[in-house]
Amino acid sequence: MNKKTGVKILGTGSYFPKKVLTNEDLEKIVNTTNEWITTRTGIKERHIAEKDEATSDLAYQASLEALKAANITAEQIDLILVATVTPDMSFPSTACVLQTKLGLTSAPAFDLSAACSGFIYGISIAKAFIESGVYKNILLVGAEALTKFTDWTDRNTCVLFGDGAGAMILSASEENDDVLSVFLGADGSYADLLSMPGGGSACPATAESVNEKKHFIRMKGKEVFKVAVLKMALAAGKALEMANKKIEDIKLFIPHQANMRIIEAVAEKMDVLMERVFVNIHKTGNISAATTITALDEAIKIGKLKAGDLVELVAFGGGFTWGAAVIRI
Ligand code: COA
Repeated sequence: MNKKTGVKILGTGSYFPKKVLTNEDLEKIVNTTNEWITTRTGIKERHIAEKDEATSDLAYQASLEALKAANITAEQIDLILVATVTPDMSFPSTACVLQTKLGLTSAPAFDLSAACSGFIYGISIAKAFIESGVYKNILLVGAEALTKFTDWTDRNTCVLFGDGAGAMILSASEENDDVLSVFLGADGSYADLLSMPGGGSACPATAESVNEKKHFIRMKGKEVFKVAVLKMALAAGKALEMANKKIEDIKLFIPHQANMRIIEAVAEKMDVLMERVFVNIHKTGNISAATTITALDEAIKIGKLKAGDLVELVAFGGGFTWGAAVIRI
């Protein structure tokens, strides 16, 4: 019998727009304070995409870095996946736009929509395509320009989000099996707690929908908070179980960066010390599908991880969706 094809994580990359918006800057825009934002969320600043900078532009820069880290060329990629809730447009997909930017003309490309859990969903899809022998080299991107869909008059939401992109190259391997497990979940009955209701077929853009601010992110923060903690802890536990690992085996726990208090609550439930939890929310805010991959990329760049280390990624987002993955770097 042939040896099972496994997944090798060849490289990662990330990109943040140059412009930074601090809490002090926000104090001048809405009725808020640096103190409130810092103590309630842990966020200090976030990156903001320029007017002419779309999600695909961020995805492109992150992809170039990941390709370089993986030491392969764009031509070797045979599937492009982009996880995003802030696509350049409804269609063509941001993955197709990215494909053109990378100078490719035939690699299949599509977006996936699972909000903040999008990158973990993407790992699962990439793993299945590689293990089944369909594709060899997959470019998986989590990219968001959330600040373009932010209501800058709503202090409940506008302080929370930022822009950025992260990318990973996953490749077929006979020797490695770097994706040990992926656990996914969703519950659509929570849709109204976190959504952007306008712009789709249920509520196409009209002057009225714009006036009613239906094209901005809406969130009932308190309710989201509670479910986020429960589902992230559940997903993290399940993925460990599936990988036959214990939390002690994990070098770095990388949770979705939505709120420092959510991160701490999940860490407490998982019984993992904060020194083994990666946090960069203070610099990024919540960048939805881009959070776990940009955090992972930073942890690698600053030397918090070395080859062979086990990492657990866990995320939760609109839908609701949730997921966790145990991977080897
Ligand atoms: N500045 C100052 N005050 C603010 C504020 C801001 N930016 N945003 C809200 N407030 C006020 C509220 O109006 C409220 O005032 P009130 O008591 O007079 O009505 C007060 O602060 C407390 O609001 P509350 O909603 O209870 O705060 P909270 O402790 O739950 O924190 C969130 C709010 C949004 C930070 C928090 O609920 C959260 O992070 N939720 C999850 C969000 C999330 O992660 N979403 C994405 C998941 S992927």
